[in-house]
Amino acid sequence: MHRVGNKFTNYNNFYEFSTNKTSVARKAENFVTRPWTVEVGGLVQTPRTFGIEDLLKFPQEERVYRFRCVEGWSMVIPWVGFPLKTLLENVEPLSSAKFVTFETLYDPKQMQSSFYAGIDFPYVEGLRLDEGLHPLTILATGLYGKQMPNQNGAPIRLVVPWKYGFKSIKSIVKITLTENEPPTTWNIAAPNEYGFYSNVNPNVAHPRWSQKTEQRIGEYTRRETLMFNGYADEVAKLYEGMDLKKDF
Ligand code: MTE
Repeated sequence: MHRVGNKFTNYNNFYEFSTNKTSVARKAENFVTRPWTVEVGGLVQTPRTFGIEDLLKFPQEERVYRFRCVEGWSMVIPWVGFPLKTLLENVEPLSSAKFVTFETLYDPKQMQSSFYAGIDFPYVEGLRLDEGLHPLTILATGLYGKQMPNQNGAPIRLVVPWKYGFKSIKSIVKITLTENEPPTTWNIAAPNEYGFYSNVNPNVAHPRWSQKTEQRIGEYTRRETLMFNGYADEVAKLYEGMDLKKDF
Protein backbone atom coordinates (compact mmCIF):
# COMPACT_ATOMS: atom_id res chain seq x y z
CA MET A 1 0.00 0.00 0.00
CA HIS A 2 2.79 2.36 0.91
CA ARG A 3 4.53 1.77 -2.37
CA VAL A 4 1.40 2.61 -4.34
CA GLY A 5 1.02 5.75 -2.24
CA ASN A 6 4.52 6.83 -3.13
CA LYS A 7 3.83 6.16 -6.77
CA PHE A 8 0.66 8.14 -6.69
CA THR A 9 2.27 11.20 -5.19
CA ASN A 10 5.26 11.05 -7.57
CA TYR A 11 3.64 10.03 -10.86
CA ASN A 12 1.47 12.97 -11.80
CA ASN A 13 -0.15 14.80 -14.63
CA PHE A 14 -0.22 18.50 -13.77
CA TYR A 15 0.84 20.26 -16.95
CA GLU A 16 0.95 23.71 -15.34
CA PHE A 17 4.13 22.53 -13.60
CA SER A 18 5.60 19.97 -15.99
CA THR A 19 4.65 17.40 -18.61
CA ASN A 20 7.15 15.03 -17.03
CA LYS A 21 5.21 12.91 -14.52
CA THR A 22 8.08 12.41 -12.11
CA SER A 23 9.10 16.11 -12.09
CA VAL A 24 5.73 17.53 -11.01
CA ALA A 25 6.17 16.90 -7.27
CA ARG A 26 9.50 18.73 -7.14
CA LYS A 27 8.34 21.62 -9.31
CA ALA A 28 5.17 22.04 -7.22
CA GLU A 29 7.04 21.90 -3.92
CA ASN A 30 6.72 25.64 -3.21
CA PHE A 31 3.24 26.07 -4.66
CA VAL A 32 1.38 28.46 -2.31
CA THR A 33 -2.09 27.15 -1.44
CA ARG A 34 -2.92 29.41 1.52
CA PRO A 35 -4.81 31.71 1.45
CA TRP A 36 -7.05 30.08 -1.17
CA THR A 37 -10.54 30.92 -2.33
CA VAL A 38 -13.04 29.22 -4.60
CA GLU A 39 -15.54 31.54 -6.28
CA VAL A 40 -18.87 29.79 -6.89
CA GLY A 41 -21.33 31.61 -9.13
CA GLY A 42 -23.13 31.76 -12.44
CA LEU A 43 -26.70 30.45 -12.52
CA VAL A 44 -27.17 30.18 -8.74
CA GLN A 45 -29.43 31.86 -6.21
CA THR A 46 -26.64 32.76 -3.78
CA PRO A 47 -23.19 33.19 -5.35
CA ARG A 48 -20.44 32.95 -2.77
CA THR A 49 -16.67 32.91 -2.45
CA PHE A 50 -15.50 30.20 -0.07
CA GLY A 51 -12.17 30.25 1.72
CA ILE A 52 -10.44 26.89 1.85
CA GLU A 53 -11.08 26.94 5.61
CA ASP A 54 -14.86 27.13 4.92
CA LEU A 55 -14.64 24.17 2.54
CA LEU A 56 -12.74 22.12 5.11
CA LYS A 57 -15.66 22.65 7.51
CA PHE A 58 -17.98 20.54 5.33
CA PRO A 59 -17.96 17.03 6.83
CA GLN A 60 -14.97 15.27 5.25
CA GLU A 61 -15.10 11.55 4.48
CA GLU A 62 -12.74 8.97 3.04
CA ARG A 63 -13.65 7.53 -0.39
CA VAL A 64 -11.60 4.71 -1.87
CA TYR A 65 -11.97 4.96 -5.65
CA ARG A 66 -10.49 3.40 -8.74
CA PHE A 67 -8.73 6.05 -10.85
CA ARG A 68 -8.19 5.40 -14.57
CA CYS A 69 -6.12 7.73 -16.72
CA VAL A 70 -6.96 8.00 -20.42
CA GLU A 71 -3.32 7.05 -21.08
CA GLY A 72 -4.01 3.50 -19.86
CA TRP A 73 -2.67 3.42 -16.30
CA SER A 74 -4.74 3.12 -13.14
CA MET A 75 -4.51 3.26 -9.35
CA VAL A 76 -6.75 2.84 -6.32
CA ILE A 77 -6.78 5.94 -4.16
CA PRO A 78 -8.20 6.70 -0.71
CA TRP A 79 -9.35 10.28 -1.16
CA VAL A 80 -10.57 12.59 1.58
CA GLY A 81 -13.27 15.08 0.66
CA PHE A 82 -16.96 15.82 0.42
CA PRO A 83 -19.65 15.50 -2.25
CA LEU A 84 -19.71 18.35 -4.79
CA LYS A 85 -23.48 18.21 -4.22
CA THR A 86 -22.99 19.58 -0.69
CA LEU A 87 -21.29 22.69 -2.09
CA LEU A 88 -23.76 23.16 -4.93
CA GLU A 89 -26.77 22.91 -2.60
CA ASN A 90 -25.20 25.67 -0.57
CA VAL A 91 -25.39 28.12 -3.49
CA GLU A 92 -28.80 26.88 -4.78
CA PRO A 93 -28.52 26.29 -8.55
CA LEU A 94 -31.27 27.95 -10.61
CA SER A 95 -33.47 25.72 -12.75
CA SER A 96 -31.79 27.15 -15.86
CA ALA A 97 -28.41 25.69 -14.74
CA LYS A 98 -27.58 22.58 -16.77
CA PHE A 99 -23.77 22.32 -16.45
CA VAL A 100 -21.12 22.95 -13.85
CA THR A 101 -17.73 24.28 -14.94
CA PHE A 102 -14.39 24.37 -13.11
CA GLU A 103 -11.22 26.40 -13.49
CA THR A 104 -7.72 25.78 -12.12
CA LEU A 105 -5.56 28.60 -10.80
CA TYR A 106 -3.13 29.83 -13.41
CA ASP A 107 -0.23 31.75 -11.94
CA PRO A 108 2.76 31.74 -14.31
CA LYS A 109 4.96 33.13 -11.52
CA GLN A 110 4.49 29.92 -9.57
CA MET A 111 3.75 27.51 -12.38
CA GLN A 112 6.95 27.62 -14.33
CA SER A 113 6.38 25.55 -17.40
CA SER A 114 9.07 27.03 -19.63
CA PHE A 115 7.66 25.29 -22.71
CA TYR A 116 4.34 24.91 -24.51
CA ALA A 117 2.55 22.03 -22.80
CA GLY A 118 0.19 21.43 -25.74
CA ILE A 119 -2.84 22.79 -23.86
CA ASP A 120 -3.97 26.30 -22.97
CA PHE A 121 -4.24 27.60 -19.40
CA PRO A 122 -6.13 28.06 -17.19
CA TYR A 123 -7.13 24.40 -17.29
CA VAL A 124 -10.93 24.19 -17.52
CA GLU A 125 -13.34 21.29 -17.10
CA GLY A 126 -17.06 20.67 -16.89
CA LEU A 127 -19.79 18.20 -16.04
CA ARG A 128 -23.47 18.00 -16.79
CA LEU A 129 -25.23 19.18 -13.63
CA ASP A 130 -26.72 15.73 -12.91
CA GLU A 131 -23.19 14.29 -13.07
CA GLY A 132 -22.00 17.00 -10.71
CA LEU A 133 -24.81 16.25 -8.26
CA HIS A 134 -24.18 12.49 -8.36
CA PRO A 135 -23.16 11.24 -4.89
CA LEU A 136 -19.94 9.66 -6.23
CA THR A 137 -18.64 13.05 -7.45
CA ILE A 138 -16.46 14.63 -4.79
CA LEU A 139 -14.25 17.62 -4.16
CA ALA A 140 -11.13 16.10 -2.63
CA THR A 141 -9.06 17.95 -0.04
CA GLY A 142 -6.69 15.11 0.82
CA LEU A 143 -5.54 11.55 0.22
CA TYR A 144 -4.15 8.76 2.37
CA GLY A 145 -5.59 10.60 5.40
CA LYS A 146 -3.39 13.66 4.80
CA GLN A 147 -4.06 17.05 3.26
CA MET A 148 -3.78 17.15 -0.52
CA PRO A 149 -0.17 17.15 -1.74
CA ASN A 150 0.58 20.08 -4.07
CA GLN A 151 1.30 17.79 -7.01
CA ASN A 152 -2.08 16.06 -6.66
CA GLY A 153 -4.06 19.31 -6.86
CA ALA A 154 -3.86 21.12 -3.52
CA PRO A 155 -5.79 22.45 -1.82
CA ILE A 156 -8.94 21.16 -3.54
CA ARG A 157 -9.62 19.19 -6.71
CA LEU A 158 -12.46 17.37 -8.39
CA VAL A 159 -12.70 13.54 -8.46
CA VAL A 160 -15.17 11.85 -10.82
CA PRO A 161 -14.29 8.14 -10.54
CA TRP A 162 -16.17 6.84 -13.58
CA LYS A 163 -14.49 9.26 -15.99
CA TYR A 164 -10.95 9.40 -17.34
CA GLY A 165 -8.59 11.14 -14.95
CA PHE A 166 -8.24 14.35 -16.95
CA LYS A 167 -11.82 15.29 -15.97
CA SER A 168 -10.62 15.41 -12.34
CA ILE A 169 -9.36 18.99 -12.47
CA LYS A 170 -6.84 20.15 -9.87
CA SER A 171 -6.33 23.25 -7.69
CA ILE A 172 -9.77 24.75 -8.37
CA VAL A 173 -10.36 28.50 -7.93
CA LYS A 174 -13.68 28.92 -9.73
CA ILE A 175 -16.91 26.94 -10.16
CA THR A 176 -19.62 28.34 -12.43
CA LEU A 177 -23.08 27.01 -13.22
CA THR A 178 -24.05 27.48 -16.86
CA GLU A 179 -26.85 26.77 -19.26
CA ASN A 180 -24.64 25.54 -22.12
CA GLU A 181 -22.01 22.83 -22.36
CA PRO A 182 -18.71 24.52 -21.48
CA PRO A 183 -15.42 24.20 -23.36
CA THR A 184 -12.99 21.77 -21.68
CA THR A 185 -9.20 21.80 -21.94
CA TRP A 186 -8.48 18.46 -23.63
CA ASN A 187 -11.52 18.71 -25.87
CA ILE A 188 -10.27 22.11 -27.10
CA ALA A 189 -6.79 20.66 -27.70
CA ALA A 190 -7.91 17.50 -29.56
CA PRO A 191 -11.70 17.19 -30.03
CA ASN A 192 -11.48 13.92 -31.96
CA GLU A 193 -9.48 12.31 -29.12
CA TYR A 194 -11.12 13.65 -25.95
CA GLY A 195 -14.88 14.11 -25.69
CA PHE A 196 -16.84 16.20 -23.21
CA TYR A 197 -18.12 13.12 -21.38
CA SER A 198 -14.97 10.99 -21.36
CA ASN A 199 -16.60 8.18 -19.40
CA VAL A 200 -14.27 5.21 -18.95
CA ASN A 201 -15.39 2.86 -21.73
CA PRO A 202 -13.44 -0.24 -22.85
CA ASN A 203 -15.58 -0.40 -26.01
CA VAL A 204 -14.56 3.01 -27.35
CA ALA A 205 -10.90 3.12 -28.36
CA HIS A 206 -8.85 6.26 -28.22
CA PRO A 207 -7.91 7.03 -31.85
CA ARG A 208 -4.30 6.08 -31.06
CA TRP A 209 -4.72 3.14 -28.62
CA SER A 210 -7.22 0.62 -27.26
CA GLN A 211 -8.95 1.28 -23.94
CA LYS A 212 -9.78 -2.39 -23.28
CA THR A 213 -7.06 -2.93 -20.68
CA GLU A 214 -5.08 -0.91 -18.17
CA GLN A 215 -1.84 -1.08 -16.23
CA ARG A 216 -2.50 -0.82 -12.50
CA ILE A 217 0.63 0.94 -11.23
CA GLY A 218 2.65 -1.55 -9.18
CA GLU A 219 1.24 -4.67 -10.90
CA TYR A 220 2.92 -6.83 -13.52
CA THR A 221 0.06 -7.81 -15.82
CA ARG A 222 -2.64 -5.66 -17.40
CA ARG A 223 -6.23 -5.70 -16.13
CA GLU A 224 -9.45 -5.53 -18.11
CA THR A 225 -10.89 -2.02 -18.05
CA LEU A 226 -14.44 -1.98 -16.67
CA MET A 227 -17.37 -0.03 -18.12
CA PHE A 228 -17.65 3.27 -16.26
CA ASN A 229 -14.50 2.18 -14.43
CA GLY A 230 -16.59 -0.35 -12.46
CA TYR A 231 -19.25 2.15 -11.37
CA ALA A 232 -21.92 1.16 -13.95
CA ASP A 233 -24.48 0.16 -11.29
CA GLU A 234 -24.29 3.66 -9.86
CA VAL A 235 -23.99 5.81 -13.00
CA ALA A 236 -25.18 3.99 -16.16
CA LYS A 237 -28.66 5.47 -15.71
CA LEU A 238 -27.25 8.98 -16.27
CA TYR A 239 -26.55 8.02 -19.89
CA GLU A 240 -29.68 6.08 -20.82
CA GLY A 241 -30.66 6.72 -24.43
CA MET A 242 -27.28 8.24 -25.33
CA ASP A 243 -25.01 6.82 -28.01
CA LEU A 244 -21.79 6.44 -26.01
CA LYS A 245 -19.72 5.95 -29.16
CA LYS A 246 -20.88 9.31 -30.49
CA ASP A 247 -21.03 11.17 -27.16
CA PHE A 248 -17.73 9.79 -25.92
N1 MTE B 1 -5.72 19.38 -13.62
C1 MTE B 1 -4.94 20.40 -14.02
N2 MTE B 1 -5.23 21.62 -13.60
N3 MTE B 1 -3.87 20.22 -14.85
C2 MTE B 1 -3.55 18.99 -15.35
O1 MTE B 1 -2.57 18.87 -16.12
N4 MTE B 1 -4.14 16.59 -15.43
C3 MTE B 1 -5.28 15.68 -15.42
C4 MTE B 1 -6.02 15.71 -14.08
N5 MTE B 1 -6.23 17.07 -13.63
C5 MTE B 1 -4.37 17.87 -14.96
C6 MTE B 1 -5.44 18.11 -14.07
C7 MTE B 1 -4.90 14.31 -15.74
S1 MTE B 1 -4.50 13.98 -17.37
C8 MTE B 1 -4.91 13.31 -14.81
S2 MTE B 1 -4.65 11.69 -15.24
C9 MTE B 1 -5.07 13.62 -13.38
O2 MTE B 1 -5.23 15.00 -13.12
C10 MTE B 1 -3.86 13.12 -12.63
O3 MTE B 1 -4.04 13.27 -11.25
P1 MTE B 1 -2.88 12.81 -10.25
O4 MTE B 1 -1.61 13.49 -10.66
O5 MTE B 1 -3.34 13.25 -8.90
O6 MTE B 1 -2.76 11.33 -10.42
